[in-house]
Formats: sequence, structure tokens, C-alpha cells
Amino acid sequence: MKTFISQDYPQLCEAVAKNVIDCVNAKPDALICIAGGDTPLGVFAALVEAQQQGRVDFARTQFVGLDEWLGLGNADKGSCREMVWKHFFDKLTLRDEQICFFDGLTDNPQAECQRVDGYIGQHGPIDCIVLGIGMNGHIGFNEPGAALDMTCHVIDLDPITQTVSVKYFGTQRDVKQGISLGLKTILAAKRIVLMASGEKKASIVADTVHQPASNAIPSTLVKTTQRASLYVDNAAASAL
Ligand code: GLP
Repeated sequence: MKTFISQDYPQLCEAVAKNVIDCVNAKPDALICIAGGDTPLGVFAALVEAQQQGRVDFARTQFVGLDEWLGLGNADKGSCREMVWKHFFDKLTLRDEQICFFDGLTDNPQAECQRVDGYIGQHGPIDCIVLGIGMNGHIGFNEPGAALDMTCHVIDLDPITQTVSVKYFGTQRDVKQGISLGLKTILAAKRIVLMASGEKKASIVADTVHQPASNAIPSTLVKTTQRASLYVDNAAASAL
């Protein structure tokens, strides 16, 4: 796995965005997946700007969501849906059929998993996936110990993830489960971009690079493929 270190967060986001732009320019109807969470927010801004400047055109691109908190929807500040729409989809002119995103409010999570798996089956494999890294090394909501052979599924959230979630919601929410693309689907992507920013991620970034590839730290699993790259800023690289 190649590692790219940027000076700061804006440069990191430009570098990550370039992966998506190159992918879409090579294949306008590419299937793209970009994580929710805080880390990719600058990537969304860079991609919106690129479209406005005519450096990329998402008119035919397909987007699939990575994960969602079960029980939360668009009206819930900090849900993946709320964040990705606010910072990205709402700023592009996309048709509904270009987006497949988990409905965290579903009363039938299994059917929801099948729906998203079906969409990926139709449009996939994912051409480019941009992943954040959880404080415990999760990717999507694939928590430590997640099975390698899973497609979309429902996950019991790790206590670390539940604690960290307060930063999105501004308050403690009763989030116990997530719904996520599984490791099998993620690792089958043609281009995998793992990104991290800030000193708080330095330790898990170092573990990702130096610990053996195993589902004990899911972010290490991207090392098992040549199709993956790690993008970090100086602060996140400080323990490497
Ligand atoms: C969150 C999300 C992931 C995200 C990761 C890192 O809980 N489920 O999709 O990539 O954890 O989040 P952040 O970028 O906010 O640090």
C-alpha cells in the first residue's frame, strides 16, 4: 500500500479528490462511494468546486453510501445521510436514480441490505471508494472482528464508536447498531483510498501501517491489495 502524506488538511482533500476526479473522467458512469463522517468533508468541497470549474462532470456518475446509523435519518443532525447530502449531493445536480444510500429509518434492515447489495450488483464493483478510519480502526461500520466475507449487513456498534458518535450529534444518542457495506464489497473496489487527518488519528494510522493485516484492526486489511492507497496529512502521519 502506497502512503501519500500531505502538508495539511486542504492539500490532503485535494489529493483524495483527484482520485475521484480521475476515476470519473476515465469512466463517467463510475460507481463511487465516499464515507460520511468528518474526514471527507473537505473532499466533498473539492469535488463540488471541481464540478463548478468544469474539471469533472458527475452527470452520469453513480453513488452508493458506505454506512449509516440505524435509527437515524435525514432529520437527524450528524447522520451520514444528513452530512453527505448537506455537503455534497445537495450541491450537485443529481437525479435520484444516481444515488443509493442506506435508509437508517428502515423497519426492515435485511431488505435494506438486499436493496443496496442489488444496486452494487447492478452497477458495481465500486470503481473508487474513499474511506475514513474510525478511532478503533473501523472502516465503514466494520468494527474490530468484522467478518471478511460480508456484503451489506447490520452491525452492533463498538463502545468506542458509540462514544465517538457524540461529536456528530452534539449530544449522546442511543445508537447501538449501524448498517454498512461489508469488507468483501469494500475490498473488491477497484481503487481504495483510505484517508485520515489530524493528530487524534496518528495512533490508529500508525497501527494501520505497522500492525499485521487482520480484522482485529479492519483498516489494516486494505494492505492486502495493491489497489489501495493511504492518504494522510502531516498530523495524522506524525506517529509513522
Ligand atoms: C464513522 C463512520 C465512518 C467514518 C469513520 C471515521 O463512525 N461510520 O464511515 O469513516 O467513522 O469518522 P471521522 O471521519 O468522523 O473520523
